[in-house]
Amino acid sequence: MVKESVYRCRLLSVAIIGAMSVFQVGCVAESEPTEADLALEALIVDQNLIGDPSEGRELPLIGDALPQLGMKLFYSKSLGGNFDTGCVSCHHPSLGGADGLTLPVGVDATDPELLGLGRENTAGVPVVPRNSPTVFNAGLWDSGMFLDSRVESLGKEPKANGSISPIRTPDTDIGVADLDAGANLPAAQAGFPVTSTDEMKTDLFEDGSTNDEIRDHLAARIGGYGEGEGELGTNTWLEEFQTAYVSAEDAETLITFENIAHAIGEFERSMVFVDTPWHQYVNGDRTVLTEDQKEGALLFFTPVNAGGAGCSGCHSGDLMSDERHHTIAFPQIGPGKGDGNNDDFGRERETANPADRYRFRTASLLNIALTGPYGHAGSYETLEQVVRHYVNPNQAVTDFFAQGAWCQLPQYEGVTDCETLYPDAQANTQLALQKVQQERQARMTPFISPMLNNTQIAQLVSFLEALTDECALDRACLADWIPEGEGPDGNQLNAVDAEGDAL
Ligand code: HEC
Ligand code: HEC
Repeated sequence: MVKESVYRCRLLSVAIIGAMSVFQVGCVAESEPTEADLALEALIVDQNLIGDPSEGRELPLIGDALPQLGMKLFYSKSLGGNFDTGCVSCHHPSLGGADGLTLPVGVDATDPELLGLGRENTAGVPVVPRNSPTVFNAGLWDSGMFLDSRVESLGKEPKANGSISPIRTPDTDIGVADLDAGANLPAAQAGFPVTSTDEMKTDLFEDGSTNDEIRDHLAARIGGYGEGEGELGTNTWLEEFQTAYVSAEDAETLITFENIAHAIGEFERSMVFVDTPWHQYVNGDRTVLTEDQKEGALLFFTPVNAGGAGCSGCHSGDLMSDERHHTIAFPQIGPGKGDGNNDDFGRERETANPADRYRFRTASLLNIALTGPYGHAGSYETLEQVVRHYVNPNQAVTDFFAQGAWCQLPQYEGVTDCETLYPDAQANTQLALQKVQQERQARMTPFISPMLNNTQIAQLVSFLEALTDECALDRACLADWIPEGEGPDGNQLNAVDAEGDAL
């Protein structure tokens, strides 16, 4: 049967010119709704989805002065203690705002400009314990940043990005406001990578100093004053700060770490990538999703007890995250965060509440197809593996370890004695699986395994692939977030991939 195409139109704007009203009407081609469309429409209404989590938020545009300054700082290796790392080292727009690796490589890279697969450090094994999340849509989080929300809004006001109530950071105790945190969550977060020895600082720079001493030194370096005077060859940062902050003040006043972090945060907040096929579908264009994607969406938004996959129980709302923490027990690999033997206790590290052990913040699934490998330790390479984990976590973990564990991941190809790297990985993952079991018995978790056949698993994966913003796939479109030239200090990181091609 050939479906009849109809057009659905809506009034976009009305302008009154003289005595005449001019109506602008937008139309989208639409086929007759299928059964799946009708069921999805009901779920969309039910779950209050509008498709666009950026709506109703005050976010800067990349063309604005502060994000422009923030971009130059984000790409500058001068914020790396030993001039070899910038924020972009682990968060490049061409890599979905992340780094394409299981575990990041920050300082001591054999080639600091090389990002993505092939980036290695001189030690030959990554030392940063968690997977790099994307910085895309950083302006859309209201509760916390980092996978354990250790930068956390105390009030969690909707659509505020942490800008209303005080923010707690690792510089203060849980629940205690950090009065120096800055204007919003991304600004507060930006104060921490620079203090991490493995991410940006190196142990050559400010060894044993407090976080504030490290930040002040970096600000003095960028500003070319005090203890940082002369650390940069060329230095035109003052002009950049004066333009962005519309100020004639001197470097010492204007180039503070607070102003550095704020500008970086504004750059991140300008990275709004939410225009996905799913968004367009929610807006009424029934033609953008394939039938498989619609079936996948139905599974995603339907609870397990109603025959669905129950994903939106946690990946809820238009951001597709409840911004809460749950035990999922994805394989724990890597050096760990210093808990147990190479383990990572997740949210418990912040709250000191054993109930929070192995809980991590629900990931946003926007642009998820671009940000593999997956999970807090980057242990699953494909979305199919992730979905299979939900269906049967014990089996998925068993398979993961039976099939070569981390050594099957591309980043570990060619690593000598790969198998001996993380002897406690499987035992640690088992502990997390036991916690899932306990929580299930106590009915304390929304993590219920759905029964899905192979077709349904494939449908869910193809729905997840409909969550990608087209701009994020298009180098020309991303160019607005990738600076040209060498930067105000000649230390701009102009990234290349393993083939040497510009990212
Ligand atoms: C060596 C790699 C590396 C570098 C360099 C790095 N990051 Fe990250 N970033 C990470 C990792 C890993 C996490 C998650 C860490 C965690 O949750 O414990 C993260 C988390 C974040 C987050 C939180 C995202 C979320 O979903 O909550 C933001 C924002 C961010 N980084 C921005 C920055 C900025 C700004 C800089 C520079 C000042 C920077 N990063 C430098 C690896 C890196
Ligand atoms: C109980 C809450 C919960 C449910 C239900 C849930 N998730 Fe998750 N999801 C999470 C949490 C928490 C994480 C982060 C876990 C980690 O990093 O270790 C996550 C991570 C993911 C990731 C990896 C994200 C990344 O950036 O690495 C994907 C993909 C994903 N979930 C998809 C799904 C799908 C598909 C479903 C339905 C089958 C689902 N989730 C059901 C809570 C949930």
